[in-house]
Amino acid sequence: MTENTKRVAVVPGDGIGKEVIAQAVNVIRAARAAVDFTEFDWSADRYLKDGTTIPPDGFSMLSRDFDAIFVGALGDPRVPSNIHAKDILLGMRFKMDLFANVRPVKCLDDSLCPLKNVRAGEIDFVVVRENTEGPYVDVGGVFKQGTPDEVAVQEDVNTRKGVERVIRYAFDYARRYGRKKVLMSDKSNVMTYAHGLWQRVFKEVAGDYSDIASQHMYVDALCMHMVRDPRQFDVIVTNNMFGDIITDLAAALQGGLGMAASGNIHPGRTSMFEPVHGSAPPFAGKNIANPFGAILTAATMLEYLGFEAAAAKINAAVVEAVRQKKTTQDVGGDLGTREAGQWIAERVAG
Ligand code: NAD
Ligand code: IPM
Ligand code: MN
Repeated sequence: MTENTKRVAVVPGDGIGKEVIAQAVNVIRAARAAVDFTEFDWSADRYLKDGTTIPPDGFSMLSRDFDAIFVGALGDPRVPSNIHAKDILLGMRFKMDLFANVRPVKCLDDSLCPLKNVRAGEIDFVVVRENTEGPYVDVGGVFKQGTPDEVAVQEDVNTRKGVERVIRYAFDYARRYGRKKVLMSDKSNVMTYAHGLWQRVFKEVAGDYSDIASQHMYVDALCMHMVRDPRQFDVIVTNNMFGDIITDLAAALQGGLGMAASGNIHPGRTSMFEPVHGSAPPFAGKNIANPFGAILTAATMLEYLGFEAAAAKINAAVVEAVRQKKTTQDVGGDLGTREAGQWIAERVAG
């Protein structure tokens, strides 16, 4: 391990998470990036074995000892409460304050584009999802549970600090990557208090970025436009819950959930990288899951760690694999998870 070696904590997690992360780690090794991996078994298996979701000092250890965290997926039907996913995945996002969930939406080949009259190269935008607030904060409760008078409340928490920093991140991202427009999406016509705050802060922050255009769109209309004409989007910033939903929709514009990558970022801090998809229990253990979302995520992580050349090589190899149909079945090929991963690793190494 040299001075410049980056330390990455790997949490493969559950289901297909384990399979796709194994391939993505191989690809990083093939790219010969100076990365030292330490694997953690935090998962449904571990939880069912000894009740551990994440050890008590887990988050401080991750921040102290690692430059990045690479996660597969968490979620298992044997843990219906999803408590381990909440503690581990949402724990990292919230307790490590990874406030910007950056989810690029790029269609890599015409064969993956589900829309008529739209070319792959025309689908190229990024969703910046607020990642530490909203209904995800677990403020709420139930009252008179199990009676006809039962009440359930789940609060949508939005703070000026939280809203402002993610909107600024979106504008800074636009500047850094030569994007021209930031669109903020909310439902302020109904969520007048919570999203009224988003409206006010967005207008204020946009004023500081006169070189970047700003636009607003209600989230329902955004869903319609994403399918009718995704060419119009550049950077979209939105709240936690809407960001979750629209990035599954956006994944369909990229060839499906198997192709979508993401980073959970706090600039300058240990950040976490994971594919957008979940553990896909029906696919688990069958060598059919698409590893490209995880491999593209690995490239995003390498870029964050300063290994731009390795990241570019990996991205180029994935584009070529899709073009040559050296892929899993969901995106038109006939390879298994391992074989598709191996193809990328060989190309990257070569
Ligand atoms: P999912 O993303 O796991 O799968 C939905 C569908 O998308 C699959 O049935 C499959 O058709 C397709 N898909 C997903 N990943 C794919 C891949 N790599 N290759 C090919 N096809 C793929 O979502 P779900 O079924 O709603 O959730 C399953 C579990 O995963 C749940 O426990 C959920 O909470 C969890 N989850 C975790 C994360 C995460 O860890 N970041 C994200 C989403 C869902
Ligand atoms: C995602 C997932 C998570 C979310 C779940 C598993 C908690 O759907 O990363 O998109 O809702 O953020
Ligand atoms: Mn999701």
